[in-house]
Amino acid sequence: MSEVNLSKRALSIEPSLTLQISAKAKQLSAEGKDICNLSAGEPDFDAPKEIINSTSEAIFNGYTKYGPAAGDLELRKAIAKKLQTKNNLNANFENIMVTNGAKQAIYNLFQVLLNDGDEVIIPAPYWLSYPQMVRLAGGKPVFLNSSAEDGFKINMEALKAKITSKTKFIIINSPNNPTGRVIPKEELLQIAEVVREHKNINILSDEIYELILKKEFHHLSLASLATDLRERIFIINGFAKGWAMTGWRVGYLVGQRDVIKASSALQSQSTSNVCSFVQRGALEALKTNQEFFLKINKHYDHRREILYQGLKNIEGLFIQPPNGAFYAFPKLPDNSMTSVEFCKRMLENYGLVVVPGKPFGDDQCIRISCASSKENIIDGLSRLKKAIFNYYF
Ligand SMILES: Cc1ncc(COP(=O)(O)O)c(C=O)c1O
Repeated sequence: MSEVNLSKRALSIEPSLTLQISAKAKQLSAEGKDICNLSAGEPDFDAPKEIINSTSEAIFNGYTKYGPAAGDLELRKAIAKKLQTKNNLNANFENIMVTNGAKQAIYNLFQVLLNDGDEVIIPAPYWLSYPQMVRLAGGKPVFLNSSAEDGFKINMEALKAKITSKTKFIIINSPNNPTGRVIPKEELLQIAEVVREHKNINILSDEIYELILKKEFHHLSLASLATDLRERIFIINGFAKGWAMTGWRVGYLVGQRDVIKASSALQSQSTSNVCSFVQRGALEALKTNQEFFLKINKHYDHRREILYQGLKNIEGLFIQPPNGAFYAFPKLPDNSMTSVEFCKRMLENYGLVVVPGKPFGDDQCIRISCASSKENIIDGLSRLKKAIFNYYF
């Protein structure tokens, strides 16, 4: 085969560490090893039946053709209504476009707003795709560290110190992947205050886990708290996590009209519309009643608590209580081993699959998912306890 000269852009993409770990887990499992997998980034149940039925009916009813790149008008209007009623946000369909998962919403946003060298402040720990997507758009990720001991709070003085004349975006993600942290109202207001001082800075607010929250927690969208910044706040959200529709690939971007127009133009020249019948399923998803979310959150609360209490009881680990999403992000006893090394050894010696913190911006933590059965979580905790004792004490 002749040699291929990959583009600089392609060469700049870092291969996924998490994929390497899961490939290794599959290989060991195929060899007959007893594997306990707590690495899931998706719900462990199916989407509600009503959504599945509406989607399959839509196929028979002809929703199988090309549609508008920005999404089905009925769905865009329904999302606008959801934003008004559930998030207290004043939006109409022109502020919304439907994307192939929340991922494409972020990708499009950076492609249409970043110029070469523009900086994007990413508070760590962060979802691992942000820096890659910033780079793919020619931007420069600027990381803002936080510490597990400090509850992964965004320090406002440190944030201000990262701002330069090239700063174009600050990313916020609440509830957070990988920490499960929910940003409190006061902190959101402080972030808004910082942004008010800098007219060229926009906010990307990733709210994909808004529906997965501990009992006494409520989701607050920054745009509803800082209406004066509306034109500079872009929300990304989607159906993957709340409704267990990860593989359906439907998300959305919310923002000012001109950006939505530019982003739709980009999408019209790349992927076009999100699958037509899947958009009918998303429309049905927005009709899901509150009981469904109460039920799934009861399950998550129970399992999150088992995971949290179990981690708290492992000597040497430091853990902040996660209040949303379905992850915990404990800190390893010391830095004698990188998180990648730790996860590789955990898998080889104890058959436990967890995700290294390194690609999330913290090499002394590991991400553990509670989107798994109670038995599996308990099994994983016991393997982890043995490993920590053997490796560190
Ligand atoms: C924080 C965060 N944002 C965005 C996404 C992307 O979601 P989607 O599957 O809708 O593309 C994920 C998926 O894991 C995520 O964890």
